Amino acid sequence: MKSVLDFQNKKALGEAISMVTSYDTWSARIVGDSAIDCILVGDSASMVMHGYPSTVHADLNMMEAHVRAVAKGAPQKFIIGDIPFLAHRKSRETLMEGVDRLMKAGAHSVKLEGAKGQLDDIAYIVESGIPVMGHLGLTPQSVNQLGGFKVQGKSEDAAQSIMEDAKSLEKAGCFSIVLECIPSALAEEITNTLEIPTIGIGSGPHTSGQVLVLQDLLGMDPSFQPKFVRRYLEGYDLIKEAMNQFDSDVKSKSFPLKKESFV
Ligand code: KIV
Repeated sequence: MKSVLDFQNKKALGEAISMVTSYDTWSARIVGDSAIDCILVGDSASMVMHGYPSTVHADLNMMEAHVRAVAKGAPQKFIIGDIPFLAHRKSRETLMEGVDRLMKAGAHSVKLEGAKGQLDDIAYIVESGIPVMGHLGLTPQSVNQLGGFKVQGKSEDAAQSIMEDAKSLEKAGCFSIVLECIPSALAEEITNTLEIPTIGIGSGPHTSGQVLVLQDLLGMDPSFQPKFVRRYLEGYDLIKEAMNQFDSDVKSKSFPLKKESFV
């Protein structure tokens, strides 16, 4: 996918949108060479790449550096950069400074969590010529208020509130919305109600597309096995095996061979 227009076109054609996260140049190169439609430089970088317990620890410096690295690796893909924790809640100036930095680092759009209290800001970013992706349901930056990483929108009131938020985000100008960890039926209803595409994670099969954290689909953390992740590789074990093989070759002095050495 080359531009924001492709999102709407794909929904109109009934074609699913695939998105993965990437945070660095080497993985972005592989994603760039794959059929995956677009890349999210998510604030999950703070957990996956920096070892923090939540995305609360991501800041603009962190996100800017990751967006820059990904843009170098996958210049041909549409890149969405995450606005980190509180960067959109301090002031309009801080928000726009953050958007500016992510866009100059190579993002083609930004993603903001939540709706209530920031619809004017979202509309302002959109009016400034920058595509905005929304994010509803389990919004990890609010993990402390949500009481943990839990499925959202289970009660009728909560479902209604997420549906209203989705409509407000569309009205504010979002080009797409991530729906994270909400019941399938609610995700389907939102997807059918909105004109813009939804991209689901842990929200069932009826969204307009799906996103997974790259390291999750590659099986890079054997201890993390949520229900909504499908592993396409046992990456942790495979990489460990390769390292052990190198270690063994070094210790047995079977590496390097003559052909791997300079004369
Ligand atoms: O930061 C992230 O990786 C995300 C996805 C889980 C949607 O926001």
